[in-house]
Amino acid sequence: MLLILTLSLSLVIGTCHSTTYEGHKVYKLYPTTPAHNEFLTSLKSTEFDFWSPINNVGKPVTVMASPQVQKKFEKKLKKHKISYELEIDNLQSTIDQEKKYHEDKLGIAFDHYLRHSEINNYLDQLAQNYPNIVSVGTIGTSYENRTMKTITISAKPGPKPVIFIEAGMHAREWIAPALSLYIINQLVENPSYGFLQDVDWVILPVMNPDGYEYTWTTDRMWRKTRSPGSSCNGTDGNRNFGFHWMEKGASGSECSETYAGSEAFSEIETQNLRNVLNKTGNITAFISLHSYGQYLFYPYSYDYVRADNWKELAFLAHKVNDVIKSVNGTEYTIGNSAEVLYPAAGCSDDWAMGGAGVRLVYVFELPGGGKYGFDLPPEKILGVCEETWEGIKVIADYVVQNCK
Ligand code: ARG
Ligand code: ZN
Repeated sequence: MLLILTLSLSLVIGTCHSTTYEGHKVYKLYPTTPAHNEFLTSLKSTEFDFWSPINNVGKPVTVMASPQVQKKFEKKLKKHKISYELEIDNLQSTIDQEKKYHEDKLGIAFDHYLRHSEINNYLDQLAQNYPNIVSVGTIGTSYENRTMKTITISAKPGPKPVIFIEAGMHAREWIAPALSLYIINQLVENPSYGFLQDVDWVILPVMNPDGYEYTWTTDRMWRKTRSPGSSCNGTDGNRNFGFHWMEKGASGSECSETYAGSEAFSEIETQNLRNVLNKTGNITAFISLHSYGQYLFYPYSYDYVRADNWKELAFLAHKVNDVIKSVNGTEYTIGNSAEVLYPAAGCSDDWAMGGAGVRLVYVFELPGGGKYGFDLPPEKILGVCEETWEGIKVIADYVVQNCK
């Protein structure tokens, strides 16, 4: 039925743009005798639009009728004792609704998690629909050959400070890519933010696509990449970066969840991120999204060493936390990563600061939920996104005011 409707709609719309179907009804008729069929066949096709053939007795027939002929039509049906029901009461509102449905499909919903291909498709759709402010790039492929896409959002030409967001390093932390998509959605489809004029965004929603897909298909709690080892597969991407690699809080054992890899940057995914950070000029803020635990870390992570500008980082982190807290009451523990949690060498945040020289570097450990903490239920996605976005905006405002 939907197919017929879509076909006939595209026919009428295709041939006559201004046609309105206001008040047009679509009837479903139930002819049960040969006489019924004979009568239906005798109706003028100029007055009634038959959407399905009248062939077998007992098979329903779909007919569209304009407001002018509806009364007459219903009378005739009653007279011939053909039962019917109304399939569409007002065809125009169905058309409008269908159009809206297609428009909505360009958008995105935050009531469920998306597969990697759906995420990539969304980025491509945005690039197509907003070519003036959006471009989608590929930073390389993953070990299993998945395309690692970044989206660049730049409302105005000319050099500006860049905020780089990386999400999905750890496969099972699904809320991280979801939040990155929410941020993209806000920046592109709700472009009412003043800072858009003064800051560019580069966002990598899925840093570990092989692991991410593996959490969908095979093991929901997978964390690492999927590069094969001799006894166990996968490397912890967040121990694989080449800044004080393997010094503390990282494992040399393949089967460990924090396996640092055979050497620094052994993973194609971490190489890809390193390369794009090196290539992108002007990165002022680097934000790495993880879950879970409600921590907001600033460097360094490799040891009990504070960044030169740790006071600035702490000051801004507290502002971020205040704003997030004002939304739903969620509170973050703020601090130097090693001090607050534990030393862990080879993380992307350490490399962003120590290797790529980024000034404002943060790791968000987003709120947990579900059975294992990493499996935040879908109905909680939106709330986490909304509150955290308020905090990210504080960073954007700070960049605009202090880092031009
Ligand atoms: N849960 C994260 C991990 O184990 C965070 C700890 C590392 N610290 C950091 N600053 N990245 O990778
Ligand atoms: Zn993580």
